[in-house]
Amino acid sequence: MTKLRLGVNIDHVATVRNARGASYPDPVRAAEMALAAGADGITAHLREDRRHISDADIDALAAITRRRGRPLNLEMAVTPEMEAIALAHLPHAACLVPERREEVTTEGGLDVARGHNAIKPLIGRLSAAGIRVSCFIDADLDQVAAAASAGTAVVELHTGAYCDAVRERSPEAAVLLDKLRNAAREAAALGLEVHAGHGIDYETVKPVAAIPEVMELNIGHFLIGEAIFIGLGPAIQRMRALMDEARSVRAA
Ligand code: PXP
Repeated sequence: MTKLRLGVNIDHVATVRNARGASYPDPVRAAEMALAAGADGITAHLREDRRHISDADIDALAAITRRRGRPLNLEMAVTPEMEAIALAHLPHAACLVPERREEVTTEGGLDVARGHNAIKPLIGRLSAAGIRVSCFIDADLDQVAAAASAGTAVVELHTGAYCDAVRERSPEAAVLLDKLRNAAREAAALGLEVHAGHGIDYETVKPVAAIPEVMELNIGHFLIGEAIFIGLGPAIQRMRALMDEARSVRAA
């Protein structure tokens, strides 16, 4: 089975920095460390309210990932402002996410079915500029079909509900994992590359990583939290090892 890629989301290094209005900790330093520790790429979400990552962070992250020949995945809302920023930086990838100011984090997937009229042309413009576009969607077959018809190359499946259910020891977890598996299978059958992310920790990473169609995981909050206790490099290395274990069990 193909090796699963790990994108490390460094947004919450900026959250800690911004809590004090200081210049540290620096998300760019975290990105360098993440790449050195085995991350395949760096993911960052430039939110409309700039609550964590700033425009200057994106400038710097684009520069270091380009210098190192490693992918930057820019998570962005479907807005003209974010489109202009993506086109100015030409990151390797852009992941279209829903965004509401009042939410604490990205609470649900993008409604590609309802937003088709705005999303499809945006995917066309970003793709024409050479950016690999992904739509962050719930594990829902209608959303998978809508994303495929909008012309996206990739869907990233929202794993948040599954990860919450596991943490709460809810019996729903098994149902939600099945939904992720079905959505991944359907997306791959439609010719889409499949990624997954949100809320993943050491416990939930293996079942998600074992879904054979999934090619990339994007993980942030847990890793940055774990870095407080064991350091960012070791946290990433442990996550990487769990991902590889899940894949090798499937392959065996
Ligand atoms: N993927 C997407 C599209 C996201 O919006 C986020 C959160 O920014 C993540 C992955 C990472 O989620 P977490 O920080 O919970 O690991």
